[in-house]
Parts: sequence; C-alpha cells; structure tokens
Amino acid sequence: MIRNNEKQPLVEDKSHEAEAVGSTRSNTHFEFINESIRDFSDEKQRQQFKKSITSIKIQNTKHIDTQDLDSYITRAKKAQQHWQATAVYQRSAALLRAADNITTHRDAIAGVIIREAGKTWREADAEVCEAIDFLRYYARCAIELSIPEILNDYPGEFNEHWIEPRGIVAVIAPWNFPLAIPLGMTVAALATGNAVILKPAEQTPYIAKMLVEKLHQSGIPKDILHLAPGLGETIGAQLVSDSRISTIAFTGSRQVGLNIIKTAYDTKPDQHFIKRVICEMGGKNAIIVDDSADLDQAIVGVRDSAFGFAGQKCSACSRCIVLESIHDSFVDRLVAATKTLEVGDPINPGTDIGPLIDQEAEHKAQCYINIGHAEGHCALAMSSPLSAEPHANRPFVGPHIFTGIQQHHSLANDEIFAPVLAVIKAKTFDEAIHIANATDYKLTGGVYTRKPSHLTKAKREFNVGNLYLNRNITGALVARQPFGGFGLSGIGEKAGGVHYLRQFTVPRVCSENT
Ligand code: NAD
Ligand code: ALA
Repeated sequence: MIRNNEKQPLVEDKSHEAEAVGSTRSNTHFEFINESIRDFSDEKQRQQFKKSITSIKIQNTKHIDTQDLDSYITRAKKAQQHWQATAVYQRSAALLRAADNITTHRDAIAGVIIREAGKTWREADAEVCEAIDFLRYYARCAIELSIPEILNDYPGEFNEHWIEPRGIVAVIAPWNFPLAIPLGMTVAALATGNAVILKPAEQTPYIAKMLVEKLHQSGIPKDILHLAPGLGETIGAQLVSDSRISTIAFTGSRQVGLNIIKTAYDTKPDQHFIKRVICEMGGKNAIIVDDSADLDQAIVGVRDSAFGFAGQKCSACSRCIVLESIHDSFVDRLVAATKTLEVGDPINPGTDIGPLIDQEAEHKAQCYINIGHAEGHCALAMSSPLSAEPHANRPFVGPHIFTGIQQHHSLANDEIFAPVLAVIKAKTFDEAIHIANATDYKLTGGVYTRKPSHLTKAKREFNVGNLYLNRNITGALVARQPFGGFGLSGIGEKAGGVHYLRQFTVPRVCSENT
C-alpha cells in the first residue's frame, strides 16, 4: 500500500500509452446508433413524406403573461421533489417513449419545421433525427450518471460520490433549430430530475408546443414541463431573474447570452444558491482551403457549409480562407457550383435554399451585402427567386460571395446569419490559421488539405470547439460530434456529449468512517 508520505506522482503520466493506442477510448458504456435520415432518392419515401407535409397548418400559439409564468414556476417547484424521487429508469423510460412517439410522427413534425422555420426537406428531416437522438442518448446517459461512484478505496473509510438535480431549469431557445435545440436542453434537464420551463423563440412557438405535447403524452408530468411562449425581453427576462430558477440553459445570440450571464449572477437576497448558466452562442466560422486540398471536395464542402439553410446555422461557414496560389480558380469553381443551387419554396423537394426567417433577418443581410460591396469585390450575387411563392411571407436572399475581404473588415468579423460568404486570401498556411483564429467566436472551423503536417497543425492551433478536417462543418451528430464552442461562442459542456448532463446536477460526496 502506498502511504501518503511516500513520494508518488499526483497524476500518473500515461500519455505514451494514449499515443500508442491513437488516444481513442469510448466514454459511455452503451452503443449508440443515430437515427437514419430519409432517403429522398427513393420515390416511395419521397411520396410518403410529401403526403405527410402538404396538409400541415401552423396554428397560432398564444403568448403567456407574467402571472402565468409565475404560476408555472410555483407548480414546477412543488412537482420537482416528486420528479427527483422518481426512479431514473422511469424518467428515462418516458423519454424513450417520447423518442418512439416522435419517430412515429417524424414526417409530420418535419413538415411543421418546414412550414414554421422555412427549412428544406433534408434539413427538416435531419433535425427531427437529431431530436430523436437527443432523447435516446440522454435517457441512457442519465442512467449511467445516476450510479453512485465509489471513490478511492482506503481502509476504514467509505467514500461515495453521487449527483442530484439542481431544481428548476429555464430553457431559452433560438428559432434556427426549433425542435432539436429546445428539446436537447429540455431532455437533459428532465433526465437528471429537474423541472423545466421552456421559452421558445418568438418565431417558432408551434413546433415547441408540439414537442411539449409529445413529452407530456409520453409520461412527463404536466407540472414538470411548462411551455412559456412570449417575448424574450419580457418572459425570457423574467425567467432569468426569478430567484426560484436554479439553471438557465440558453442557446442564441452573443448579445442576449452575455446579458443573461450578467443578470443571472446577480444573486437576490431571497436566493440561497448561485445560478448556473449554460450558454451556447454564435459563430464566425472559417474553412481554410490549402493549396494541397482536393478542390472537388472543398468546393462542395464550403458551398454546403455556407449556404445550407440560407446560412442560418451557428455552425455555418461565413469565412473561407484560401491560399493565394489556388485562390482564383477556387473562387471561379465555387461560384459555378453555388449557381447550381435552387433557391425557392422549401415545400418543394428540389429546393436547396429556402427563405430567411423574417424581415429583420433580411434587413440585416441586405445591410451586410451593401457593406460587402464597399469592403470587397462581389463575385456572386444570386437573385432571390421572383418566381418563388413567398413562403409564409418570408423574404428570400440568394447566396452572395465577396472576395478581397481582409481580416479587419466587418464581413470578416460580424455574425450575419444569412447566405453571405467572405473569401479571404492567405499567403501561407500559417497565415491562414492566424486569420482563422482572429475572432472572439470559437465555434466551428474546417480545413481542406492533403498535407498530414497541416492536419496536425490545424488540430493543435486552430482554436475552435468543433474542428472538421476535409469535410463540411455543419451537421454535428449526437454522440459522434458533441457540439459547442468556447471564447465568446459559449460556456458549458458540449451538447450531445457524455458530459453535458452533469451541468444540470449538483455533485455530492459522503465520506464514512467505517
Ligand atoms: P436570440 O438571442 O435573439 O434569441 C434566443 C432566445 O433568447 C429567444 O428565445 C429569445 O426570445 C430569447 N431572448 C431574447 N432576449 C432575451 C432577454 N433579454 N432575456 C431572456 N431571453 C431573451 O437568438 P436567435 O435569433 O433566436 O438565434 C440565432 C442565434 O443563436 C445566432 O447567434 C446563432 O449563432 C445562435 N445559435 C447558437 C447555437 C450554438 O449551439 N452555439 C445554436 C443555434 C443558434
Ligand atoms: N449542431 C448544429 C450543427 O452542427 C448547429 O450544424
């Protein structure tokens, strides 16, 4: 036995072993298989999907008022003790039932996303799959996490570590993944025994209503999960400052996120705990195209990362940093490839790019397009489809590519959240990495190169939460690419990863003298 006064390293250095096995290890004890996306090349699946989505109507969802919210929190507080005492297996069983329920109705739910958020068929279907994955993955993770851990065996002493729920969680969600993101945050909180008040984005309350209904139908008690549709400035702000809310799980813009952090840490006299804020914010993500890149791969990867869902993803590529020697030919080919995209009504299966979410988003995009003309050279300005039916009165902005953009330009720094791509020239790969890192956002990033030394350099020096090598930079999958940034892109563990659930818990340790 090693005594305390015997010399020993605090942490045994096992790095040589990690290197020998390629540093890979799995951190869950169960196998996880992601839900499969629909194969729209199959006529039967296409017809079935079309039938399910054409009759969908979006109903108005009434905003609640501050009194309603107060009563939801009161009811949630009472009910939470019972939910906490419910066996984790029962809580997880309800979530697995919800996964089955959503799977059964997946096409109709995708239809609501298409109608309410303007996603294309593929994007909407992929989002439903992600939602199902969150339910199945977190339900299983919660069971693993609930097993108390016996700590360092020591004679005469029994040390145990376990977790408890934090209480009531406010989930404040964005509109751009109107199902998967609110559901992911909600499920993580419920699985670990918390109650939830879910405030969806103003633009997409109906899909949130559906998801709450599905969870209630599957056995989540009504008082444990409340839907609180309303304005961010009123209902959202009230939730953040209420002294009964223990945790805020927020995904949205940097401005709102930083404001929530500031408000939440202002502890009230009647508040006997410090709130926790889990905060996922924006990005200004770059893809580097090296002179050794396979351009066939790079062009499609950049195009799809920049313009999928009209650039309205936090993970989207909005800066493309291209090595000087291949710059002109790359841009020519990127422009040609982008021109093949179909901009139009997302209800049609052939549409690649749908509308922007609202007039405010269009106004912002147009402002930056004007700035782009002043800062650089417009290599592509695809017109919005005059022939397309307005999609629920939503505006269209076609893809835009600006070259000659420099590191200090607005187009290289501001999150535009629209199909506007800034192309920046770099002399060397080192300079490309330097430019890529020159933003406070640290969310996603990508590199196309065939040089192993550049792949290694990117892994070490390209500072982003999710780095993608020789592939597109959007569409992280639950359990395979746990997702989230750092810097001013967020604080917290990665969504869809094994550590995410811990954030919704309080750790406890007991040491018994035996
Ligand atoms: P937003 O910040 O405008 O709104 C997000 C949510 O916050 C909404 O529900 C809104 O009503 C609420 N809100 C607004 N003001 C509030 C206040 N004062 N107090 C409390 N709540 C308030 O963001 P958005 O436009 O809905 O979404 C787009 C943003 O989200 C982009 O910046 C995008 O990058 C980011 N995003 C990040 C991730 C990620 O995982 N990092 C994922 C998706 C979206
Ligand atoms: N998780 C989403 C993606 O990776 C935002 O695109």
